[in-house]
Amino acid sequence: MNKRVEVALNDQILKEASSSQYYLAMASWAENNGLNGTSKFMYTHSDEERFHMLKLVKFVNERGGKAIIPAVNQPPTEFENLKSVFELLLKHEISVTESINNLVDICLQEKDYTTHNFVQWYVSEQLEEEALARTILDQLKLIGNDNGGMYMFDRDLEASVRASAISEPKK
Ligand code: FEO
Repeated sequence: MNKRVEVALNDQILKEASSSQYYLAMASWAENNGLNGTSKFMYTHSDEERFHMLKLVKFVNERGGKAIIPAVNQPPTEFENLKSVFELLLKHEISVTESINNLVDICLQEKDYTTHNFVQWYVSEQLEEEALARTILDQLKLIGNDNGGMYMFDRDLEASVRASAISEPKK
């Protein structure tokens, strides 16, 4: 496997692992603050990020490279409020998109079309994740500081996690 591509893929493994831990920290915070829907959403999201990481690990090893399983920095234990959690999530996803775009760029420079093809799955995934985060943030902006609205939002999020688990049991 091309060395530069291998390094970039391992860098992406770290980013996906860090994303998984970051969302796990958000899930735990939400659980401790009575936000059950948000907590379920974040636990599921954390699992998805782990899946993104595993998919990269397997790809690197199967293509003759060496996947490096990274240590990750400890994520925060406290968050300001629900809105700031989703703002952080969007900001984080935007940085992951940049990293995926950089990976695409390296694949093209190195003429590694197989990896380029593989990475397209992540390009689509990032589009979906950013769009979802923006939709949720729009809803939270409409709710403002209304506690009743916040309660409904959390309940609706729980229902949407359950619905997507039924329609799409495995990602
Ligand atoms: Fe795997 Fe949300 O980036």
